[in-house]
Amino acid sequence: MDADTYEAAAGAYDLFAMSHRPAQEAALERLLPRLRPEAGPILDIGAGSGANTAALLERVPDAHVLALEPSRAMRALALSRIAGRPEWHERVTVLPDDFFSASLPARIGGAILTGVIGHFDPGERAAVLAELAARLPAGGGALLDLQHPERPRRVEPAEFTAAAIGGLSYRGIAEAWPIDTELMRWRVTYLCLEGERVLTEDTAEYLYRHPAPATVAREAGELGLRLAPLGDGTHWILERE
Ligand SMILES: C[S@@+](CC[C@H](N)C(=O)[O-])C[C@H]1O[C@@H](n2cnc3c(N)ncnc32)[C@H](O)[C@@H]1O
Repeated sequence: MDADTYEAAAGAYDLFAMSHRPAQEAALERLLPRLRPEAGPILDIGAGSGANTAALLERVPDAHVLALEPSRAMRALALSRIAGRPEWHERVTVLPDDFFSASLPARIGGAILTGVIGHFDPGERAAVLAELAARLPAGGGALLDLQHPERPRRVEPAEFTAAAIGGLSYRGIAEAWPIDTELMRWRVTYLCLEGERVLTEDTAEYLYRHPAPATVAREAGELGLRLAPLGDGTHWILERE
């Protein structure tokens, strides 16, 4: 993927992600018993603005986090969040690498992959799962989301979040087209408005894969990972058997 795809979203990423955040936090809470911080760092793959990295540092006091974030704009958000918490600085590393360029530790204590698995094609996805399977301890786990729709289809333009800060509002509008049995093309417009007057407008287009849960479960199963649903229709735990 082109890392700059995320420059538009990074303008106010946490505001645009606000509607997903409660479900993501609840899912992260369910991952905590599967983390093994004594085995190695927790990987946050495609850490974005660092919300999950920060939650881990807050909730798991003995964890070290290795956050991978190739987008300069998104990484800046994560680093700003971390900068304000000097007590975290020894426990977190933010690598400016994508998954396949990063030098990964031999063992990890868990992993988080939210909003990112669809950026990998099937061959890359198998390789990511294999790298996790090789590094997770028995009983350890990773959090994964499989974003809607479950099968590629046309998604008509829809507002996906709205926040008001002071006198301004922030809105995102997303639409998508199916490309094949797994791949979709998304167009997302990020707006900042004063009333109906548009102050900033940024549009990003990107390709994202929507593999069926059964497909990922089979791919993971071949590597000794079990894909267990968390029941919200979006989040799953990958467990190392
Ligand atoms: C939708 S954002 C999700 C951010 C965060 N994980 C969250 O859930 O809010 C996807 C992130 O994955 C990153 N990304 C895309 N391809 C990647 C790759 N090959 N390796 C690591 N990160 C990647 C992007 O730069 C972007 O910040």
